[in-house]
Amino acid sequence: MPRGNKTPLIQKIAKQACVTFKELRSSANFSDKQQELLSLVTAVRAADLRISSRPSSGAAGQQQSPPVTYMHICETDQFSMGVFLLRSGASIPLHDHPDMNGMLKVLYGKVRVRCFDKLEANATNNLVIPEFNPPLTPLQTDNLWRSVLRSVAEYTENSGPCLLTPLRDNLHQIDAVGGPAAFLDILAPPYNPDDGRDCHYYSILKTVAEKQTSNKGKSSEEHGEEKEENKEIWLLEIPQPEDFGCGGEPYPGPLVSI
Ligand SMILES: [Fe+2]
Repeated sequence: MPRGNKTPLIQKIAKQACVTFKELRSSANFSDKQQELLSLVTAVRAADLRISSRPSSGAAGQQQSPPVTYMHICETDQFSMGVFLLRSGASIPLHDHPDMNGMLKVLYGKVRVRCFDKLEANATNNLVIPEFNPPLTPLQTDNLWRSVLRSVAEYTENSGPCLLTPLRDNLHQIDAVGGPAAFLDILAPPYNPDDGRDCHYYSILKTVAEKQTSNKGKSSEEHGEEKEENKEIWLLEIPQPEDFGCGGEPYPGPLVSI
């Protein structure tokens, strides 16, 4: 149930996000403001947004809806806020948030978030590129990024928010684990291709040596699961995966005014 005061929690979050991300460039107050925002976001639950958990399967029409949908709540020049809903087994493929900050707070279900960072500002200049299996085409070589796996963690409604910044945990893949899941997503500033903030997608490459190692024994890496934090990883920038699409649906919660 929404808390027993007059201002809905999501409205407070929106107001605090406005205040926080206006301070983004004058960082003297940013940390304090961000802490206040984090406290509010940590407290939010699905009921505050009038969202209820969805059945894993069998609901009429569910198979027709996209595996991932987005409820838009609000957007300003400083930030965007909405809810992603993932069907059981759905994933948001590995993608980036150029020059952006983000907060992800689970509302129901469980998600696994794998975070990466690029190690160089420019792609492959002056780097020794390993041999990959399967081998890359010359065109693909231009879209290579040396990167590092920062963390792999699971989040539920009782977890605090998962954070990203322009330099830390900026790329992530999000998987629904054990059933459907939903999370509140705040990005600051919002994606804006006209301002250099387009969303790019990536796939994780295997070097020949890694492939040989994983072929020798049963390993989770056979299923593409990287678990070793701070491990160097090579990423290939790719078009949006054809099997991923994000539908839209109306946000049922309290209206937000900013
Ligand atoms: Fe994201």
